[in-house]
Amino acid sequence: MGHITSALRRILPLLAFIALLLAAPAHAGVPNKDAVPAYAEEQTMLQVEADSRTPEPGLMAPASGRVHIDRHYLGQYGATEGNVIVQRGGNTWREWRNGPIATVSGMILVLALLAIFVLYSAVGPARLDTPESGRRIQRFSQWERWVHWATAIAFLLLALTGLIILFGKVVLLPLLGHDIFSSVAYVSKYLHNFAGPLFIVCSVLMFVTFLRRNFVRRADWEWVKQGGGVVTHKHVPAGFFNAGEKAWFWLGVTLLGLVMSASGLILDFAVGQTRYVMQIANYLHLAGATFYIAAAMGHIYLGTLGTPGAYRAMREGYVDEEWARAHHSLWYEEVQATGQGANPPTPGGHRRPVSGPGNAPRGH
Ligand code: HEM
Repeated sequence: MGHITSALRRILPLLAFIALLLAAPAHAGVPNKDAVPAYAEEQTMLQVEADSRTPEPGLMAPASGRVHIDRHYLGQYGATEGNVIVQRGGNTWREWRNGPIATVSGMILVLALLAIFVLYSAVGPARLDTPESGRRIQRFSQWERWVHWATAIAFLLLALTGLIILFGKVVLLPLLGHDIFSSVAYVSKYLHNFAGPLFIVCSVLMFVTFLRRNFVRRADWEWVKQGGGVVTHKHVPAGFFNAGEKAWFWLGVTLLGLVMSASGLILDFAVGQTRYVMQIANYLHLAGATFYIAAAMGHIYLGTLGTPGAYRAMREGYVDEEWARAHHSLWYEEVQATGQGANPPTPGGHRRPVSGPGNAPRGH
């Protein structure tokens, strides 16, 4: 009898456990059969959330209201997200951001680098046909150079730290290990968050400073039709800025600047916007960053290796007369005709031909 009692005592917990398993509630399944939860905890929370949720209104149901498109993100929660533990759209965002978006973004950036490499090796730099004259013309005032370099430095910092935030886990983590990578990622994130608003201020100054010289003129169309002579090495007539530079100003600095600033501010400052809104902002930020960085690589190439003499203009403010005649002949003629250049003086300096001792050309 004693043997039977002690055997029963041992088996009872096991039987109880099996009974519990059999009686487990039907809620144990993932609420949405298509949901792909990231972690076990997330899966559990999704279940809890599903249990406590009233059924969603159908797509066409009046209760669905204006939010039917994003009902998986906003509608079911109401206007605020204070009581939302897991936002289901977050998982979709995570998969898109880490998967196709990061892959396509990386491919575009690598292709842009390759295109620049091909341009450099197959076509080569746009050199002058004649030797430099030794006479210099002022191209950029000190103020213009300050604004340019402040924007450029902020941009490079944002691009570098942004790429670390996006690709660091895949590219740097295996190289650096968890300890070092976590510090790098942490510093990158904070640098990015603070450099963002600075970049916006710089971009606004850039827009105001360079706007007047970027209005489109008739000659720009001719420049476009001839492809800027980039491949043929022909010096197509251009004003102070050519059509390619104007495209960089309008599509890059202005349009992408607006996209990056608006989406960046939404990501930077939480003032009640929902996670759905931040996820859309993140998609836009990523698309904008990809095109802006790719275009900036082209801009940097053309301003340095691709056009000898151009970098000196932005570093020192001056170009050789022959350089101006070859690359911006219409501007050169205006400078010769007026002695002032086509553009009114800007704070920090004026534009006039400068020649004489001490202005000897330097090799590039
Ligand atoms: C034009 C220059 C910019 C570039 C190239 C750039 C690039 C990037 C990239 C690649 C990411 C990573 C996104 C991800 O991993 O999902 C990112 C995140 C972010 N960016 Fe930018 N960005 C720029 C400007 C700005 C501006 C102007 C702001 C703010 C005003 C800003 C604020 C943010 C914030 C808050 C994040 C999220 C950082 C985090 O994960 O905590 N960005 N940026």
